[in-house]
Amino acid sequence: MVQWYPGHMAKALREMEEKVKLVDLVMVLLDSRIPLSSLNPKLKSMFNNKKILYIFTKADKADKSLTEKWINYYSVNGNKAIAVDARDKKTVKIVEREALELLKEKRAKDALKGLKPRPIRTMIVGIPNVGKSTLINTLCGKKVAVVGDKPGVTKSQQWTRINQTLELLDTPGVLWPKFDDEKVGFNLAITGAIKADILRNDDICIYFLGLLKSYYPDAIKNRYNVEILDDLNETLIKIGESLHFYLGNKDIDIDKTALYILQEYRNDYLGKMTLDRL
Ligand code: G4P
Repeated sequence: MVQWYPGHMAKALREMEEKVKLVDLVMVLLDSRIPLSSLNPKLKSMFNNKKILYIFTKADKADKSLTEKWINYYSVNGNKAIAVDARDKKTVKIVEREALELLKEKRAKDALKGLKPRPIRTMIVGIPNVGKSTLINTLCGKKVAVVGDKPGVTKSQQWTRINQTLELLDTPGVLWPKFDDEKVGFNLAITGAIKADILRNDDICIYFLGLLKSYYPDAIKNRYNVEILDDLNETLIKIGESLHFYLGNKDIDIDKTALYILQEYRNDYLGKMTLDRL
């Protein structure tokens, strides 16, 4: 995980502002499980006058009913949100349809002026791990190397023709996640968007258990046959006991237990869940 420093951020923003000028439509990727925590705070001002298609990736891992609500939340001010599995080929048609719909008026105006229709130019932006390279590969039907995860690294931009309708800038814009809110940091760590080198696994897991207690109270019981208690530390120990994660003595290996639970969540063993609420 690359550490973002103010210099990196300023540079990434400048580069992105330049790229944004070249496109008709910006595709902002958000993680369906954390549609708010995966949003970079600077986005709004940067894409002021551009049409935005918010693409929620990893929809296959999220809570469908909440995804619907978040789609409505983002589908305002002439912008649109959709939820996809970025690995699925069907996503190409969906993105094409939505891009055409968002640019309908502009294209109609151009046609009135006698301008020949040209492909819609678009680019993908989002925080690391949200699915940018996956979506680029799905849209372009080939492996495109993504170098953008290293702030400051650029390569010459290329337009890749997806089909008659769409052209994609093959270097995505990489944005840093926002950390100013502790909850956001935890949500990013739980979903694996950031590596937990700043946060401890047991702290992340305790926070996660707290969310489950409010939002998905049966998930832990169903998986580990352990009730979520008011005392979340105690709950973590009980889960460790049920998994037989003992240290040499009678103590529970808390770190191993915490990491195990988090990995089970990331690999969908605890169910499809959304952690950000409206
Ligand atoms: P990035 O370019 O934005 O950094 O993200 P990238 O495409 O590399 O995707 C990160 C991980 O997320 C990849 O898993 C990728 O397969 C997975 N992914 C992306 N979109 C989707 C989606 O819509 N659904 C699901 N289920 N997975 C998706 P990975 O290579 O296994 O990496 P990791 O999970 O081990 O980090």
